[in-house]
Amino acid sequence: MELDRSIMRETTRDFQTYYSPRLSGEVRMDTNTNVLGSNPAAERYLKESRWDLNGYPDTYSRGLREALADLYGLEPENLIAGNGSDEMLDVIFKTFTGWGDDCVVPVPSYTLYDYFVKCNGGKSVQIDLTEDFQLDVDSMVRHKGAKVTIVPSPNNPTGNCFRQKDLEDLIARFEGIVVVDEAYAEYSGDGMIGKVEEFDNLVVTRTFSKAYAMAALRVGYMAANRKLSDMMTCVKIPYSLNAISEGAAIAAVKDQDFVRRSVEMVRTERPKLEAGLRRLGFEPFPSDSNFILARSPIDHEALVGGLKERGVLIRDFGSKRRTENCVRPTVGTAELNALMLEKMEEVIGSCR
Ligand SMILES: Cc1ncc(COP(=O)(O)O)c(C=O)c1O
Repeated sequence: MELDRSIMRETTRDFQTYYSPRLSGEVRMDTNTNVLGSNPAAERYLKESRWDLNGYPDTYSRGLREALADLYGLEPENLIAGNGSDEMLDVIFKTFTGWGDDCVVPVPSYTLYDYFVKCNGGKSVQIDLTEDFQLDVDSMVRHKGAKVTIVPSPNNPTGNCFRQKDLEDLIARFEGIVVVDEAYAEYSGDGMIGKVEEFDNLVVTRTFSKAYAMAALRVGYMAANRKLSDMMTCVKIPYSLNAISEGAAIAAVKDQDFVRRSVEMVRTERPKLEAGLRRLGFEPFPSDSNFILARSPIDHEALVGGLKERGVLIRDFGSKRRTENCVRPTVGTAELNALMLEKMEEVIGSCR
């Protein structure tokens, strides 16, 4: 047999592996995780608990769904939990798209949307955000027959929230399922998760990987009205959330103080980091999240490469359309931001 890519599913043949830098002790300001370190309640749970490793986890993570239902004023039947919000996105496309179906994806947004659409046999129809990185609702709804659209709010990599009235307009006028990906919503405020019963076609995804500081444990969840939730529960792989991660996530939900502290820290440090970036000649875009997209004053590859050599990783978006020469640092503590700005100044100085 000829082992070339023609044996792959047609829609996946142009795939590349995901961002996976070789690490040698760098400070990671490239993944938007919580710079305060591991979630303390989850750590405590892991230290103090024992598990029956011979038993399967709860098939549909009832304990975690009950804790989340309490948090958001929903019913456990509105919620699905799994292996990161990436699994939730996969389940959404698996459930609602058929072979060759169109799905509307805004540009720029989370790079993996295109991957999940194509993995599930769909076609992604890319619609540009407006100049100020807001939704172009008219263009998104003009695409008749599209089965799903997905919008992250706050948006990754641009950092801003979409206007509430545009989100509601999109939900009202789009004929298929509208997914609002709220991976960073703890940083921006309420979001749409508590409102899923008000809409026929809304699914909201969230994660424990960012403000909850548990990316290593891979826990994500989504909420929708009960009919949609039932459909997606039947499609999701049973047991995809392991018992250890589920227990840690329940402990973390019950310690909202840590999340509040983390969000507060970002709200205090973000304007200072933004001002520091401006002083160095960057053009930062407004952010409602724990990262800032900024146009670099020197070549983006030279900046990101020079920082890596000095022990700091930030994410490079400079080769992509609409974010030309832009980079995306995570907002750190005051100390981390000072360190990052100092190294940036060195790299910029060495390039001039
Ligand atoms: C917008 C957005 N959605 C989803 C995810 C995936 O998160 P998880 O770790 O829960 O799979 C990320 C991770 O960076 C993200 O930025």
